Amino acid sequence: MTNRTWQGRVFIGVSLDGYIARPDGGIDWLTDPPALGRDHQEVASTEPAIEWETFYPEVGHLVMGRGTYEKVLTFDDWPYRDKQVIVLSTTLADTDDRVRVARSLTEALDRLEAGRASQVYVDGGRVVQAFLAAGLVDEITIGTAPVLIGAGRPLFGNMDHDVHLELRASHVSASGMVHTTYRVVPTPPVASTSVGASGDA
Ligand SMILES: NC(=O)c1ccc[n+]([C@@H]2O[C@H](COP(=O)([O-])OP(=O)(O)OC[C@H]3O[C@@H](n4cnc5c(N)ncnc54)[C@H](OP(=O)(O)O)[C@@H]3O)[C@@H](O)[C@H]2O)c1
Repeated sequence: MTNRTWQGRVFIGVSLDGYIARPDGGIDWLTDPPALGRDHQEVASTEPAIEWETFYPEVGHLVMGRGTYEKVLTFDDWPYRDKQVIVLSTTLADTDDRVRVARSLTEALDRLEAGRASQVYVDGGRVVQAFLAAGLVDEITIGTAPVLIGAGRPLFGNMDHDVHLELRASHVSASGMVHTTYRVVPTPPVASTSVGASGDA
């Protein structure tokens, strides 16, 4: 895409085995971490990864999938009062005036443009995958929880090209979460044709 005026940013928690939710959508392993009080070692770069308190005020728009939206509806309060929220869904009835429903990625992008978006919080596994595949993610901050949940909804999926990342910063929190911020390298490097597959080293 050319002339994009906004930055797509991901801020998400994942289990060590790569899931953002259990098969039934549960995120208890993330919100009620059993790992507080264990002897986690503190390792960090000189700069901490981007933290929620910095990230959240910077974003004006959210784009989330129906799966994430339906989870948010189970919370006591609507957490995004001061944000423009776009929900991607082909099935959801457009009846909640706190959000705008977009039926396709193209429609979501049109809404971001019309809303003069600058910093866009991209949320939900399938939506993150769609934005990544379309080259619309510039930054990824991941909190990796010290737990294996065995099955669930993956953060990343199949890709038809490699996405290269630059590690910008990391830190560990008291609950043993490893937080890392990456910049997405915009253009995939052109594959080298000079090395053959003959196995000669
Ligand atoms: N660990 C974390 O930090 C974190 C963060 C966010 C969410 N979560 C959890 O992750 C789960 C949701 O993630 P998910 O990967 O299952 O779903 P998701 O990405 O939130 O939503 C998937 C749905 O979004 C719609 N969608 C996605 N891409 C679309 C496109 N290009 N065009 C039109 N519609 C599109 C589709 O809805 P339709 O089927 O209606 O078409 C699809 O079924 C929830 O359990 C949530 O609690 C965890």
